[in-house]
Order: sequence, then structure tokens, then C-alpha cells
Amino acid sequence: MERPRNLVLTGFMGTGKSTLGPQVAAALGLAFVDTDTEIVARSGLSIGDLFAQRGEPYFRLLESQLCQHLASESGRVIATGGGTFLDPATRFAFQSSLVVCLTADPQVLAERLKDRQGRPLAADWRHHLKQRQPIYEALPHHLDTSNLSVVEATQHLVRLWNCR
Ligand code: S3P
Repeated sequence: MERPRNLVLTGFMGTGKSTLGPQVAAALGLAFVDTDTEIVARSGLSIGDLFAQRGEPYFRLLESQLCQHLASESGRVIATGGGTFLDPATRFAFQSSLVVCLTADPQVLAERLKDRQGRPLAADWRHHLKQRQPIYEALPHHLDTSNLSVVEATQHLVRLWNCR
């Protein structure tokens, strides 16, 4: 089996992608990129402003284009936004990467998503979670972060990468 190009962390808002990504990257000696951070840097607009001023479809276009580019390269830990894998082209592009879907119990998500700042879709999160569940479930690897410390979750992800 060929080694995966990148380690991609996806999953719903509040599951720990942006927190764990830098830790895992440091532990593996890989570069880290957070797609939301990159989109904000490239567009000069916050995620909230992008949604409000340009609309969600424009944000999704930027997200998809960025992911196509990242998927064509190697050697990164990539934290995506929670909606990134709704795009079939992105799912296809990351087939050569190790994709891990982070999950968390709804009670844990409710707590983690209390502060909605910067997350335009967080007010309606239960609805989005229900709608996206089939897509998340179809992803090849899952890690439930509900009861894991950052160190424990990082160790799981490092092991998963090292097994490939
Ligand atoms: C989104 C999740 C956000 C961000 C944007 C849309 C989503 O990222 O990409 O607000 O559709 O679930 P996080 O999952 O890092 O909050």
C-alpha cells in the first residue's frame, strides 16, 4: 500500500480539528495547515464576513479550490472546516490522503459550540449535524474526542498515521 500523502482531520465543528492538528503535525514533524485560517489569509476576510458579504457558496468555492491544491501535494497535516467533505470533488481529491473524521457526543458539542463567534452555522448546529451524519459516517476512519485529552487524541492520530 502506498503511503498516504497527507493526514487530513475533518468532522463537525467543535470536534477538535484545529486544536489537534498542530499537535499532531509537531509530533510527526509535518507541516500544518488549517483550511479556514488559509482562506481568511488569502481572502482578507474573516469567515463570518465571507459568509455575510460574499455568501456561503463563495466560501465553499474557495474551500474546494484550496483542498484540490492541498490534496495534490504531500507531507502536511490538514485541519479542514466542518463542511469541507460535503463537496464530492474534495472527497475524491483526498482519496490519496489519510482522512480521519473526528466526532464528539452532542452534549460535548453543545458545550464546545457555546461560543458561536466566527462560526456562522453554529446557531443551527444540531440541524447541520443531522444532515451531514451520513457523509461523516462514510469516511474511512473515526476518532471520538469526547473523553480524550489533547495528548491522548494526538497519540491516537500519530499511531494511525504511523500504521499506514
Ligand atoms: C463550517 C465549519 C467551520 C468553517 C465554516 C463552516 C461548517 O469550521 O469552515 O464556519 O460548515 O461546518 P470549523 O469546523 O473549524 O468550526
